[in-house]
Amino acid sequence: MPEAAELYNAMNPWADRADERFYLGLALAAASVLDVGCGTGTLLSQARAAGHAGRLVGFDPDAVMTGHAFQCLLTDSDVLTTLRGVRDALTPAGRFVFETRNPAARAWEQWPEGGFEFPWEGKPVRVHYEVQPIVGDVVDVVENIVGDGWRRADWGRIRFLSVERLGELLTEAGLVVEERYGDWDRSPVTPDSAEIISVVRWG
Ligand SMILES: C[S@@+](CC[C@H](N)C(=O)[O-])C[C@H]1O[C@@H](n2cnc3c(N)ncnc32)[C@H](O)[C@@H]1O
Repeated sequence: MPEAAELYNAMNPWADRADERFYLGLALAAASVLDVGCGTGTLLSQARAAGHAGRLVGFDPDAVMTGHAFQCLLTDSDVLTTLRGVRDALTPAGRFVFETRNPAARAWEQWPEGGFEFPWEGKPVRVHYEVQPIVGDVVDVVENIVGDGWRRADWGRIRFLSVERLGELLTEAGLVVEERYGDWDRSPVTPDSAEIISVVRWG
């Protein structure tokens, strides 16, 4: 059975999606970039390949697949520790840009109906999701990956912070929101926006 990290790039190849273009554009416009929760480093590799000649640094405590990286921060204390660390790493002119799925859009309700296939060593691998009942703002998801003669079930837990609570935590960490979008086209956050995309700087 392959390791989760081995499968990650095959399951999530660079696809020139709107979110990927959004972050690649920001990375190319910045002299130096820190990718927090970089996974296998896809974004920074793309930035380098596209000609970024400056400092590109990524860090990641693991390489599991548990949702938008910010949503792996499950408690207020995790969020605050991370945001304060980011604040320390930012320069006065620097910006921290991240997204978290909007809980109002209740995306987790659609996941069990979805799923997809990807090729692995020449054979199709099927991915489907099971979602446990939501407790507070935390959702437990099992990602079932079924290959030819093997299967793995990767359990993940992600938090869906509301716009209001996220704003409070950012303020507590000494950061202010400069811009906030509800989607990759930079449209505003509405009750049914899929994303809460925040561009923040020192408060
Ligand atoms: C879905 S992956 C996204 C990886 C990468 N950003 C990408 O877009 O391909 C979420 C990542 O968040 C990372 N992560 C989990 N907890 C974290 C933490 N406390 N701080 C930073 N990254 C974390 C995970 O290890 C995982 O690689």
